[in-house]
Amino acid sequence: MDIGEVPERKAMRRADAPGKAILFGEHAVLYGAPAIAIAVDLRASFSAVESDRWRLNGEDFKPVENPYLSPLISEFGDFESPLSLTIESDIPIAAGLGSSAALSVASALAISSHSQSPEKLARAAHRAEALAQGGRASPTDTSTSALGGAVIVAPSIIKSLEHQWSIDMDGPDGTKHWDVHSLPIPESLAEVPIVIGYTGIPSSTREMVEGVAARMSSVSFRLSMDDVSNLARSSIDLLKTGNPSLIGNEMIRCHDLLREIGVSSPELDNLIDAALPFSYGAKLTGAGGGGCIIALATDPNACAAAIIEAGGIPFITSFAQRGVQLTIT
Ligand code: MEV
Repeated sequence: MDIGEVPERKAMRRADAPGKAILFGEHAVLYGAPAIAIAVDLRASFSAVESDRWRLNGEDFKPVENPYLSPLISEFGDFESPLSLTIESDIPIAAGLGSSAALSVASALAISSHSQSPEKLARAAHRAEALAQGGRASPTDTSTSALGGAVIVAPSIIKSLEHQWSIDMDGPDGTKHWDVHSLPIPESLAEVPIVIGYTGIPSSTREMVEGVAARMSSVSFRLSMDDVSNLARSSIDLLKTGNPSLIGNEMIRCHDLLREIGVSSPELDNLIDAALPFSYGAKLTGAGGGGCIIALATDPNACAAAIIEAGGIPFITSFAQRGVQLTIT
């Protein structure tokens, strides 16, 4: 290269996507109930730049160590045109906040050489999620990460909501059908600070959903699951009101029901007790067993301090209206 010649700078594609919290309907969404999820402003990003060989975070990319990534490269990229990929994420891993969904959605968009619809990204990320969860995975996390705002996943179309797409998937419990809907988060709710409390204990969604599936053969367990489902159904209209006190009260009820079906833990219950005096409501979010609680905070700093005092790790964050997004520099 001649002195003074400016080296050609390769374009970098950086996609980032939000994590999620489920307000109502986790687990039940795998058995015909709706789930109501919101995107939260903890984000995962994936950067891709042309390279001489496939790299991930500066190391040679090993497909066996990253099984979720290879199918996304096959679908959205080209193994013959290697990229150097870099992951950055604010979302704790295996904590119920949809970190793998956010990474899948963001990586698919960063790897791709052109624009992609949220639907295509969400579908591909859902297939990756289903593989990781032994076939029991709803499209809740992946759709929320792709779309942002509030997402309602239901077994049939809800006419009062904006329908986005339908998904059918074969799994160990037969073929499941979901309709994905979106809803902008009402302003009165969007301004409420969210405090996440991480127990520091990672949880395997696959193990939690398998445990629930094994217990579904018990009649009394199924009755408790019906309560979780009914609460999720009635909370769709509640979400539209945007009233944080009413939503918070139902979140507390939801946590009690999730405890009844055995997916809470002493550490999660402890963080709920710590957060409640400074919140409209709080509950575990995601598969449970460990992971996180979400609180709609009235006093976020006091709520975060109480979570630390109770042995947890707090994140003060907010609702995210923005889903997956691409920046090219
Ligand atoms: C995981 O975030 C929520 C579960 O309902 C599983 C799923 O929906 O795939 C437990």
